[in-house]
Amino acid sequence: TVVSLIGVPTDAGASARGASMGPEALRVAGLRERLEAHGLSVRDTGNLAGPPNPWQPPVDGYRHLAEVAEWNRLTHEAVHAELAAGHLPIMLGGDHCLGIGSISAVARHCREQGRKLRVLWLDAHADFNTSTITPSGNIHGMPVACLCGFGPDELTRIGGHVPAISPKVIRQIGIRSVDEGEKRFVHQQDLEVFDMRYIDEMGMRHAMELALATLDDHTHLHVSFDVDFLDPDIAPGVGTTVPGGPTYREAQLCMEMIADTGRLASLDVVELNPAFDHRNRTAELAVDLIESLFGKSTLMRK
Ligand code: ARG
Ligand code: MN
Ligand code: MN
Ligand code: MN
Repeated sequence: TVVSLIGVPTDAGASARGASMGPEALRVAGLRERLEAHGLSVRDTGNLAGPPNPWQPPVDGYRHLAEVAEWNRLTHEAVHAELAAGHLPIMLGGDHCLGIGSISAVARHCREQGRKLRVLWLDAHADFNTSTITPSGNIHGMPVACLCGFGPDELTRIGGHVPAISPKVIRQIGIRSVDEGEKRFVHQQDLEVFDMRYIDEMGMRHAMELALATLDDHTHLHVSFDVDFLDPDIAPGVGTTVPGGPTYREAQLCMEMIADTGRLASLDVVELNPAFDHRNRTAELAVDLIESLFGKSTLMRK
């Protein structure tokens, strides 16, 4: 496999500045070298050059819509090109708004190749807000809704197919912060959510068995890994921490079970914010978990 690193240094969709430094922090933490140590060939395509963050208040329920749309058009094209070349793209975020461009490209690629799609959304948040229910106007809280066709044309039409994906292909894991109106909408659209209560009661293993069930040889598995999925005690370097997330061991198991499927075909690593981090430890943890996602294991697999 050839892995392509695509830096997407946006923080235009976020509530805090600084996720724009995420791609470099992941590089400094040795992402490329660690993947190469596992026998992967890695190509770093550098960073996309999107617009600067104007740091303005929301307009009609969206903050920085024009900038977020431009970042996502660039992301969509870059991701689609890497997939078409047969590469496995890893998007280095950047805030989670980039999931719109990235997953719409993955979905387009799957339509072109006649492949099934499964999206695993690892996050503390459902990111299923719309302009009328958002408490903040921050678009990093809206990518899942936009991908499912609920959002402004500038964001839902990227990739030319509306909706880009059906809610049925998504499995959300680790969720523990959903806004009031968003809760109703998640229920209405019947998103499949393995929230922290589910993980507390049933365990990460059972949650992942269900989230990964019914994958076949033709399924493209996309993982959208929001670093705030992790408990803030181990991952302080994010803008929107929520207590009570997966522990180090639970997160490792989650990644290892994904690796075991052998179906991982694209990955977003988002919301890492070095401005909140301590000595790059959250970036190093993310790299450690990504290694597991690519098959690092303690013993040889039988
Ligand atoms: N639900 C909140 C909002 O919409 C927070 C979203 C956080 N999203 C994220 N990708 N970190 O403002
Ligand atoms: Mn989040
Ligand atoms: Mn998110
Ligand atoms: Mn490691």
